[in-house]
Amino acid sequence: MCGIVGYVGSKQALDVIVNGLRRLEYRGYDSAGVAIISDGALVVRKKAGKLANLETLIGSDPMPDSTTGIGHTRWATHGGPTDRNAHPHVSEDGRVAVIHNGIIENFAGLRAELTAAGVVLASETDTEVVAHLLAHSLPEADGDLAEAMRRTCRRLEGAFTLVCIDRTQPDLVVAARRNSPLVVGLGEGENFVASDVAAFVDHTRSALELGQDQVVAIRPDSVVVTDFAGEPVETRPFHVDWDTSAAEKGGYDLYMLKEIAEQPRAVADSLRGRISKDHRIQLDASEAEDAALRAVTKVVVIACGTAAHAGMVAKYAIEHWTRLPVEVELASEFRYRDPIVGPDTLVIAISQSGETMDTLMALRHAKAQGAKTLAICNTVGSTIPRESDAVLYTYAGPEISVASTKAFLTQIIAAYLVGLYLAQVRGSMFEDEIRGILEELDSMPSKVDLVLDTTEPVRALARELASSTSVLFLGRHVGFPVALEGALKLKELAYMHAEGFAAGELKHGPIALIEEGVPVIVIVPSPRGRSVLHDKIVSNIQEVRARGARVIAIAEEGDEVIAEFADHVIRIPAVPTLMQPLVATVPLQVFACEMATARGLDVDQPRNLAKSVTVE
Ligand code: M6R
Repeated sequence: MCGIVGYVGSKQALDVIVNGLRRLEYRGYDSAGVAIISDGALVVRKKAGKLANLETLIGSDPMPDSTTGIGHTRWATHGGPTDRNAHPHVSEDGRVAVIHNGIIENFAGLRAELTAAGVVLASETDTEVVAHLLAHSLPEADGDLAEAMRRTCRRLEGAFTLVCIDRTQPDLVVAARRNSPLVVGLGEGENFVASDVAAFVDHTRSALELGQDQVVAIRPDSVVVTDFAGEPVETRPFHVDWDTSAAEKGGYDLYMLKEIAEQPRAVADSLRGRISKDHRIQLDASEAEDAALRAVTKVVVIACGTAAHAGMVAKYAIEHWTRLPVEVELASEFRYRDPIVGPDTLVIAISQSGETMDTLMALRHAKAQGAKTLAICNTVGSTIPRESDAVLYTYAGPEISVASTKAFLTQIIAAYLVGLYLAQVRGSMFEDEIRGILEELDSMPSKVDLVLDTTEPVRALARELASSTSVLFLGRHVGFPVALEGALKLKELAYMHAEGFAAGELKHGPIALIEEGVPVIVIVPSPRGRSVLHDKIVSNIQEVRARGARVIAIAEEGDEVIAEFADHVIRIPAVPTLMQPLVATVPLQVFACEMATARGLDVDQPRNLAKSVTVE
């Protein structure tokens, strides 16, 4: 939520910042703004709406040359998405400009204090109080901007990444973080701060992770990091292992289309290096200690949205392979219900961004109860893996589209690897059984490729159904979380009523929603394997069809029975039951994307959403 970027060096700061904001716009697009220092003055431009509006404004009201500046793209929390509430916010004396990602929880008290002191606030945001506090702290800090930031941060509660500039110190940008992401980009004669490396990867792939409660001061030739008390701290440098092209559309019209197409590679990359020549799973020694994993008596998965659906899929597999009970809990609910976790619980936090606040807070709660924690994450250097005992990275590459696609498939892969590893160290499966599943996993990239080669029927159907008011999704077993995921994609992209149900649950209430012509997409289990599931879903299909539903079956090649009961059949390759989510989800992603396009909507940046949800 909110993208921030700061630059100091010798290039035109405005160009660097606007390019960076373009890369960060997925984090929020309610408004955008920049502030630069020129001739001892702050020059600010900001505008409600997408970055394009800001660019138009700057086009009609150009900004002067400058080599130092900050920029922001907003996902609104306090105060509506207006010009007035857009960042940067400037102190009353015009000396300091600040941008912010997160929520200052004690802003009301601070605002009252400032108002009592005669400050007139110009916006409804929580951020603006920081600009005034910084300006008030500067004289006490003898003009040291980093010290003023530390003093200010010590007064703040909540989650924040803050970046500021002082018009009297033109070669300096100061930033701070608590519970929100911030990385430093290390260049030659230039340095960057940003909420994501994507903002500066055009300029440098050398970066620095900032820890919790730290302040960084960047100048063209120096980077100084301290804690909030002013003590120097050690930082962890890292190399960004993807380049600009990975974060661009690469010939596709939409990031989502590109990311859907990247899934075979993402799955293959996430498996690579995890399976030894003798077909054993290898997680790095640092990632998991076998003795500790043998002592585990329960697994709890915490995650949000799509990541939670990946966890739900994994539950079926991990329980089956390890005979350990697996609970999957929405991270936002977890810590508020006094969950039973302890030293024998393995808590797996799944998060693409590694910054989702609900998941981070749930993780911290689990750690505080003594649980062992493992992160499944796609973003190297982000907070959730950093705070977990162990991490298994997915190698999906940057996911820019707000709707998660390749992250979902790779999260399932990673969670399956954890399950198989548990089975391996606990001896709950024979080696040849594990080997068989690894071979199946290995074949999945080519199966996903086959699905991608045959998406035209699903696109055509999406266009045909684009004026529907509601679409229902049914699944059983692992098909149930796939149904939830299909519905989530349609809701967030096509702004349409969509719900996923466990097919057997329908008759307990939701079947009342069925009326003439309502599209019902059914994820049909394989007729081979556990064919009882297939029989049951055929009955469920008949129940809805008898009430007028238009049934679209996602069914495997060779399932001839289903054609008799469905209005449309979308074919997917025949794979074992536990592998089906990896192929069955793909047509649902394509369906949602195509339907949103047919409805004339912005697929990559759906309304009201942000890619990385860093508030609770
Ligand atoms: O970064 P995370 O995986 O922690 O994000 C979790 C959810 O916010 C995310 O999956 C969200 O549901 C997606 N927009 C769904 O497409």
